[in-house]
Amino acid sequence: MQEKTSIQGSWASRWIFILAATGSAVGLGNIWKFPYITGENGGGAFVLVYLACILLVGIPIMMSEVFIGRRARKNPVHALEDNAEESETTRAWGLIGVMGMLSGVLIFSFYSVVAGWVLHYIKAMATGELAGATSEQAGAAFNALLADPMTLLGWHTLFTIMTIIVVARGVNKGLETATRIMMPALFVLLLVLFGYAMTTSGFAAGWHFMFDFDFSKITWDSVLVALGHSFFTLSLGMGTIMAYGSYMPKKASIGSTVLAIGALDTLVALVAGLCIFPVIFANGMDPAAGPGLMFISLPVAFGQMPGGQFFGFLFFVLVGVAAWTSAISLMEPTVAYLVERFKMGRWKASIVLGAAVWALGIACLGSFSFMSDVTLFGKTTFDFLDYITANIMMPLGGILTAIFAGWYVKSQFSKEELNISEKFYAFWRFSIRFIAPIAIAVVFYLNL
Ligand code: PFF
Ligand code: NA
Repeated sequence: MQEKTSIQGSWASRWIFILAATGSAVGLGNIWKFPYITGENGGGAFVLVYLACILLVGIPIMMSEVFIGRRARKNPVHALEDNAEESETTRAWGLIGVMGMLSGVLIFSFYSVVAGWVLHYIKAMATGELAGATSEQAGAAFNALLADPMTLLGWHTLFTIMTIIVVARGVNKGLETATRIMMPALFVLLLVLFGYAMTTSGFAAGWHFMFDFDFSKITWDSVLVALGHSFFTLSLGMGTIMAYGSYMPKKASIGSTVLAIGALDTLVALVAGLCIFPVIFANGMDPAAGPGLMFISLPVAFGQMPGGQFFGFLFFVLVGVAAWTSAISLMEPTVAYLVERFKMGRWKASIVLGAAVWALGIACLGSFSFMSDVTLFGKTTFDFLDYITANIMMPLGGILTAIFAGWYVKSQFSKEELNISEKFYAFWRFSIRFIAPIAIAVVFYLNL
């Protein structure tokens, strides 16, 4: 029998799938957000809670998304509907996919703005604009950038176009080619930067900050942040991994594949922390500086170190590459849906979607200047979209996916697709039916 494949194409091998999904997972979440939330939440204890969330909630949900996508070999909406129909339950489960596409659009609009800052910093590092800057000067430079909508618009537009071009070229020529080039580059850059961090005088301090588990520092608040971040960092709860799973080769085991993706994403987050904190400590700066850690503290720190200008440049290139491969994956579910549902070509679908997220992105970049007065629930557009996607929409997509995969999809199907050992299957099933939904429900309850 001919193996069923998606009309979008399929990954050349299991390794390409691992790297493509890792490309989606590894992004601003790992290099920008993880270090600063670790800094804000006291270091080691937070890292430990985060690892538990990845293992007990993130991995089981990722396995579910992959098998749902692979079983149907369609975009997330149709994949959920097909799985539901096969399990003799309502096709309304497809609505998880609809909400997921919406999450993708909303995330893209602010993600692209932050990616635009990164592009600006690649340029700033290359031209040496921030060489020798004090933290006041670097802070002022960052604020001046935020207050300059035309510059931000230029970078946001460039980043959106870069993303559209890759997505439009399709799964094999676009996504897969980008994966083959960018992922090895990303790992090499990370290793070079890690080697550099190890030579700085702050390495031991950075290491202790991240890995000394001081349990007294664990608070409910940090647990909430850790769980929310485990969704964001693994690209879960919005159909991305489902779409990527629908292009996965049939033979490959979902269990070990997903473990590899989770491990790589976690490794990059930890290594990114070990690149950033030593540089921060070597310069006696504050690890809890918040979102500005990467854009203010880091350039200052790099600016004072031998070779810092060059390594600072490499650092922002690394972040830019990581953000690019993630942005591509934010568009994929919707583009696949537009192609399969409305018979649009990929170029048309990518441009239509790209134009929509680009327009919404203008409200996000304006949040720091001409739209700073426009607020929803007391938040600017940028903060509001960041908040509702990471704290509400992704966990909601996650809990619904868990309930669907654990309670509604016939166990015969999940068993068949996951194709893992008895013990691993028992772990998956227990986590997806109980641990994940209960953990997410508790977080929701405490968030309200
Ligand atoms: N996982 C990405 C990161 O950590 O930066 C963010 C992301 C990408 C979220 C793609 C969701 C997604 F679909
Ligand atoms: Na990530």
